[in-house]
Amino acid sequence: MRMRRTANINEKLNKMSNYIVFEPEGIKGKWHELFGNENPIHLELGMGKGSFISVMSKRYPDINYLGLERVEDIIYKAACREEIQESPNVKLLLADVENLPFYFNQMEIERIYLNFSDPWPKNRHEKRRITHPRFLDIYKKLLKKGGEIFLKTDNEDFFDFSLLSIVETGYSLRKITYDLHKTNFAENVMTEYEQKFAAVGKPICRCEAITPLD
Ligand SMILES: C[S@@+](CC[C@H](N)C(=O)[O-])C[C@H]1O[C@@H](n2cnc3c(N)ncnc32)[C@H](O)[C@@H]1O
Repeated sequence: MRMRRTANINEKLNKMSNYIVFEPEGIKGKWHELFGNENPIHLELGMGKGSFISVMSKRYPDINYLGLERVEDIIYKAACREEIQESPNVKLLLADVENLPFYFNQMEIERIYLNFSDPWPKNRHEKRRITHPRFLDIYKKLLKKGGEIFLKTDNEDFFDFSLLSIVETGYSLRKITYDLHKTNFAENVMTEYEQKFAAVGKPICRCEAITPLD
């Protein structure tokens, strides 16, 4: 996602400290304390401008939502959303997926959303895909037993790569579809990217991966 640089972005971000966690390392193991409850934690990786998480957090007030995004200008757009500012059950993390083990204890998270993650189509960039086994092994540790990854993408090659990685790393798979919008998944909440693809009739792939119970 390319964006024009927001003027005075650092100054603007500093005013968003009620909504953005700038040093998630400091909250490792204390996310429930930050929310002030023991509700489940759902984490969106590569959140973008926050439309998905803002709808989800209103719809499911008993879930704590974390939206992780590494680009300052993009997370700023998310933090400006009134729905996010008004929701006590959302926090945004200015952070990189590469550093997840520094941000969370083992089994601190119930669910991870991977919505329209960068597909890194070239073979030589395979290791950068956030469904590469090196990432899935990390997610497995941070997720509770039986924890879930919900994945959506428009990119069929990325989807097939992800399905193989998911199986290779010992998750089980369910609800696989190559055309989500033709299924009767009524509770689907569209992301920004999904809305753009749906507008031009591009099929959306989706699956759910579950960590082993033992
Ligand atoms: C293609 S966009 C999708 C945005 C949103 N999830 C959606 O579906 O509309 C991917 C987003 O992931 C973010 N991203 C990519 N790699 C990341 C990483 N390693 N850590 C954090 N964010 C990342 C990008 O900055 C971008 O905002």
